[in-house]
Amino acid sequence: MKSTPVIQLNQVTKTYENGIIAVHPTSLSFQEGTFNAILGPSGAGKSTLLRMINGLETPTVGEVIVQGKTLTAKNIRQIRSRTAMIFQQFHLVSRLNVMTNVLTGRLYYRPWWTSMFYLFGKGDWKIAQWTLQRVGLIEKAWERVDQLSGGQQQRVGVARALAQCPQVILADEPVASLDPVASQEIMELLREICRQDGITIVANLHQVSLAIEYADRVIGLNRGRVVFDDSPQALVDDTLRTIYSATP
Ligand SMILES: Nc1ncnc2c1ncn2[C@@H]1O[C@H](COP(=O)(O)OP(=O)(O)OP(=O)(O)O)[C@@H](O)[C@H]1O
Ligand SMILES: [Mg+2]
Repeated sequence: MKSTPVIQLNQVTKTYENGIIAVHPTSLSFQEGTFNAILGPSGAGKSTLLRMINGLETPTVGEVIVQGKTLTAKNIRQIRSRTAMIFQQFHLVSRLNVMTNVLTGRLYYRPWWTSMFYLFGKGDWKIAQWTLQRVGLIEKAWERVDQLSGGQQQRVGVARALAQCPQVILADEPVASLDPVASQEIMELLREICRQDGITIVANLHQVSLAIEYADRVIGLNRGRVVFDDSPQALVDDTLRTIYSATP
């Protein structure tokens, strides 16, 4: 029996105010505990697609269903709490230490005013400690994040995402700013999280080789349309040409 998808996009489109159609009518669903890579040339609509999944962009038409609920202005905060995001530029607070950055992943679960004072409960600290152990950075807990290497900073990004206890992790080019070794380490970590915790991962990637090595499924986008959706083994030269072609 096929389980309910964790994420569903139903005939979703996105036209920006400047008239650019970033995503043409697209329907996609993502199953629990799967590692999904999105490939495509610059401007294909990868980030727009990902950002519509957690409401950072609102679809012009169509609906996004996350964890069985249609995304609306009312439930967006609740849905976002279980849909963590990892960014290319890490998006950490550089003047704060590693632990505090990870604890910000817990803010969805606390009253808004506690965040002004960085007030966290015992449970939050336990979770943050556990996630730092998980990404191998517990020794760095009290260091400022701007003193860490890029690879370490992205591991803080992963720990912060994990601290949300998410069902879904959306990663927008999570390794584009890292060297090859650090890139492999982050991809390994994401795969481990996907396999061990059953967290669904959707990652925009620019490196085809990483998609082939780590993803269960690859979605190829070109000019706002899905032009490939299959296992990485099906990515042959012809399909790659279609995904990256200038005139589809
Ligand atoms: N906020 C915005 N306002 C207007 N147009 C936008 C906005 N964000 C993206 N676009 C346009 O929408 C299209 C898709 O952009 P998007 O950032 O989703 O592509 P991408 O596949 O993530 O590209 P890249 O690989 O360079 O990150 C592009 O033509 C882009 O210029
Ligand atoms: Mg992008």
